[in-house]
Amino acid sequence: MSYVSIKSLQVDFIQKKHKITVLQSVNLALAQGKIGVIIGPSGCGKSTLLNVLSGLNLDYRGQVLIDKNPPHRTRETALILQDYGLLPWKTVWDNVCLGLQIRKVPKKDIITKTEKILKRLGLLTLAKRYPTQLSGGQRQRVAIARSLVLEPKLLLMDEPFSSLDALTREEMQNLLLQIWKETNLTILLITHNIEEAVFLGQKIFIMSPCPGTIIQEVNNEIAGDYDLRGKMGFLEMCNYLRSFFQRREIKCNY
Ligand SMILES: Nc1ncnc2c1ncn2[C@@H]1O[C@H](COP(=O)(O)OP(=O)(O)OP(=O)(O)O)[C@@H](O)[C@H]1O
Ligand SMILES: [Mg+2]
Repeated sequence: MSYVSIKSLQVDFIQKKHKITVLQSVNLALAQGKIGVIIGPSGCGKSTLLNVLSGLNLDYRGQVLIDKNPPHRTRETALILQDYGLLPWKTVWDNVCLGLQIRKVPKKDIITKTEKILKRLGLLTLAKRYPTQLSGGQRQRVAIARSLVLEPKLLLMDEPFSSLDALTREEMQNLLLQIWKETNLTILLITHNIEEAVFLGQKIFIMSPCPGTIIQEVNNEIAGDYDLRGKMGFLEMCNYLRSFFQRREIKCNY
C-alpha cells in the first residue's frame, strides 16, 4: 500500500451561503521515499489538498491515509506553508526549536538537534537574527530547518520557493534534493513552476480546477539528477507538461 493514499477526496466550502465543491474525486498515491509534485493553476485547490493531508482541515469526504493513519492521527508529517509561517518575534534559533519545545523534548536534546540542523542548513551564524533580518532564501532555509528538526517522515511543502529569485530558487531545489538523498523522506510539494516540477518530482500530479481534481499522473524517472537542467530530456519533459496545460481550457466559475 502507498505511504500517502488519497481516494475519492471531496472538500466543500461555504461561500456566500452557497456550497462550493473545491476538490472532487481526488485520487493520489505516493510511495515511501519518493518526491511527488502537484502542479496546477491558481485557485484549483492545491493548498486545500495540503491542508487536508497535514491534518489542519478535518472537514472532508473520502479516504486520506498517511502510513495507514488519518492525517490528524500521525506525528510523522511536517508542513511548510506558502508564506514560510515563521514567527517574526522569535529568533532563528527559537523558531527552529519551537516544535521540539511543544513536544516537550528534553532541553539537552533540543540544543543538540537544533544546533545540528542549523549547521546542516548553513544557518548557525544567523541563529540570533529575527526573520525580518534575513533574505528570502535564508528564511526559506529556516522554515525547512524548523520542519526537519522534528525528524518527520513526510514533508509537505506549499509553493516553498515561489517568492525566491531564479538563482536562489535553483539553489534551494538542489538543497532539497540533497536533503532528500541524505534521508528517507517522502516529499509532496506544490508548485506553479514546470521546471521545478520536472527537476524534483518523480511523480507529477497535474490538477485542473473547478472543482480541482488530478487529471494526469506523470512518472518522471529523470528527476533527482543535479545536472538535469542542462539535459535534453529535461527540456522534453518540460515541453510535454507545458503543452498539456496549453491544450486545456482552464476556466473557473467561482
Ligand atoms: N476557507 C475557505 N472558505 C471558502 N473558500 C475557500 C477557503 N479556502 C479556500 N477557498 C477557495 O477554494 C479554492 C481553492 O483554494 P486554494 O487556496 O486551495 O487554491 P490553490 O490552488 O492553493 O491556489 P494558489 O495557487 O493561488 O495558492 C479557491 O477558490 C479559494 O477561494
Ligand atoms: Mg495555494
